[in-house]
Amino acid sequence: MKTAVVYYSLEGDTKFVAEKIAEKLSADLIELKCVKAYPTGKVSKFFWGGKSVTFGEKPELIPYNFNADDYDVVIIGSPVWASKYAPPLKTFFMENDISDKKLGFFVCCAGGKIDKCFAEMKRDAKHESAATLRLVDPLKKQSPENDAEIDKFCERLS
Ligand SMILES: Cc1cc2nc3c(=O)[nH]c(=O)nc-3n(C[C@H](O)[C@H](O)[C@H](O)COP(=O)(O)O)c2cc1C
Repeated sequence: MKTAVVYYSLEGDTKFVAEKIAEKLSADLIELKCVKAYPTGKVSKFFWGGKSVTFGEKPELIPYNFNADDYDVVIIGSPVWASKYAPPLKTFFMENDISDKKLGFFVCCAGGKIDKCFAEMKRDAKHESAATLRLVDPLKKQSPENDAEIDKFCERLS
C-alpha cells in the first residue's frame, strides 16, 4: 500500500507529527504552502487566520507534488483554527479527489473543542476516515503518551 501524508502547518506542530507518521509508515510527505503566507505574529496570526477560516477561504497554494492515483492511503494533517481545519486544506480538497482512498485525519490544537474539524474534513474529502487523531500542541508538549497515540493511529492505517 502506498501512503501519502498531506499537511499544512503554521508553527511546526502539525509538521512535527506529519514527519513522525511518514517515517513510521514509509509514506510520501507533502507539505502545503500558501502563495501568500499567513503571518506568525502573536496577534496577527489569530486575526488573519481567523478571518480566513471564518470566511471559508481557499488560499492559492504553491505548486505541490501530489497525484491521487499514486496512493491507496491518504493522511491529512491540519492545525485547528477556530474549531475548524485550516484553509489550505480546503484548497487541497477542492483540487484533489481522494474519495476512494483509505483516509486518516489528524489535527493539532491548543486544547479546544474540535467537533467540527473531523466532520468537515469528512464532508470535504467526500469520504469517511478510517482513523482520527487529536493532539495538543505536540511539538511544544512532547510526551510518550502522544507517541503512543501516533503509533495507534498509524496501526489503523497500515
Ligand atoms: C488562527 C488560529 C486559530 C486557532 N484556533 C484554535 C481553536 O479554535 N482551538 C484550539 O484548540 N486551538 C486553536 N489554535 C491553536 C493551534 O491549533 C495549535 O497551536 C496547533 O498546535 C498549531 O499547529 P501548527 O503548529 O502546526 O500551526 C489556533 C491557532 C491559530 C493560528
